[in-house]
Amino acid sequence: MKSEENRFEKLTRPEVNKFIEKNVNKSIPDLILKGSPFKHIDIKDIINQIIGKEKAKKKLPHWYKNEKVIYPSKLNLEQTSSEITALHKSKLVSCQTLLDMTGGFGIDSYYFSKKVISLLYTELNSELCRVVKHNIKAFGIDNFEIKNEDSIDFLQKNSQIYNWIYIDPSRRNEKTKVFQLKDSLPNIIEHLEIIERKSERFMLKTSPMYDIDMGYKELKGVKEIHIISVKNEVKELLWIIDWRKQNSKTIKIYNYQTKKRYSYTSIDENEEQLVRIKLTTCCQYLYELDSGIMKSGLNDLIGIRYDLKKLEQHTNLYTSDKKILSIPGKIYKVKSVEPINYKKIKKAIKGYQINLISKNFQLNTDELQKKLKCTIGGKSDYLIFAKTIEGNRVIEATRIVL
Ligand SMILES: C[S@@+](CC[C@H](N)C(=O)[O-])C[C@H]1O[C@@H](n2cnc3c(N)ncnc32)[C@H](O)[C@@H]1O
Repeated sequence: MKSEENRFEKLTRPEVNKFIEKNVNKSIPDLILKGSPFKHIDIKDIINQIIGKEKAKKKLPHWYKNEKVIYPSKLNLEQTSSEITALHKSKLVSCQTLLDMTGGFGIDSYYFSKKVISLLYTELNSELCRVVKHNIKAFGIDNFEIKNEDSIDFLQKNSQIYNWIYIDPSRRNEKTKVFQLKDSLPNIIEHLEIIERKSERFMLKTSPMYDIDMGYKELKGVKEIHIISVKNEVKELLWIIDWRKQNSKTIKIYNYQTKKRYSYTSIDENEEQLVRIKLTTCCQYLYELDSGIMKSGLNDLIGIRYDLKKLEQHTNLYTSDKKILSIPGKIYKVKSVEPINYKKIKKAIKGYQINLISKNFQLNTDELQKKLKCTIGGKSDYLIFAKTIEGNRVIEATRIVL
């Protein structure tokens, strides 16, 4: 343990840090060949710090800025929450005790520790525990206890009941990525009963690939689901569980641009779609709803809420003659709608840059690009290929950038 502390201390010395900073984004094989310029510091450790810094710059800027931080292996770093999503979760709790049963690199735990009196981090991997212990000291946090053990065993041995338990299960199994709860570690489905006994509330993070209907079947007490996107890419599904409650189908959708700036939509599936969305030919404006809304599966409900219609039952493009800037999604002003004649299109776009969208259409955008031999680019000009109620159409449109 002492030698590990020494190793971390050496790695974060100013001169070593300077070297690491200088070599961020440089060729790793070249660095390995040159070897470590510092006596008693392994080049492998230096390279790990370089890769860690590269990854942390965008995902974990607060960590990146702290020169004392030690990074775990690339694989562990890939599995961590980003600062934006960790901060989101921490805003949902304010209590005495929280147990994080899958501590990892401790990003979620770090933010939770700011909102609770005492935070218990449990983690199977001893190297991760050592790294986190060092980093917590570097950030000067003192309500953060670390236990290097199997969190399920820990729960079984202890009688304490936590205000909150949080789990972000490991979604890697023998090197392949998994997204079902039964394949993740720990297996929540097998241990739901003990988690229920030992917590008042439970927060579970699942993969964006995890099916929401499946979650309602596998879990109980679901109070809310949060679908969290960063820059319109769904990053995580959060299941907020209050054991005293029946499953409620309230879905909250957040799309973060920065830590503080985000759009928010809430849908209650209990308001169920009694009315089906109307279909129509393309109107003056087209709307492509945010990916979080598409993930919720309640996109038509949102469409109805904004008085939109759809181009075809299975074509996820919404339309209106009104320009509705508050819609959570991309907005296009339609210039023309025509049956598809590739020869004509090719001729019309020759020498121009264009963006392609394919919706419920037999060719995807790569195939369309090959067929049209066009140059992709430009800020606002789009050709949208889609199945509509009139048949396949190409829609020429301009993206309205807010
Ligand atoms: C997805 S990562 C968690 C990342 C973490 N939320 C963060 O922000 O850094 C999952 C972690 O759970 C740990 N783990 C899996 N099963 C465990 C168990 N039974 N007890 C304790 N830790 C476990 C894995 O070693 C892995 O580090």
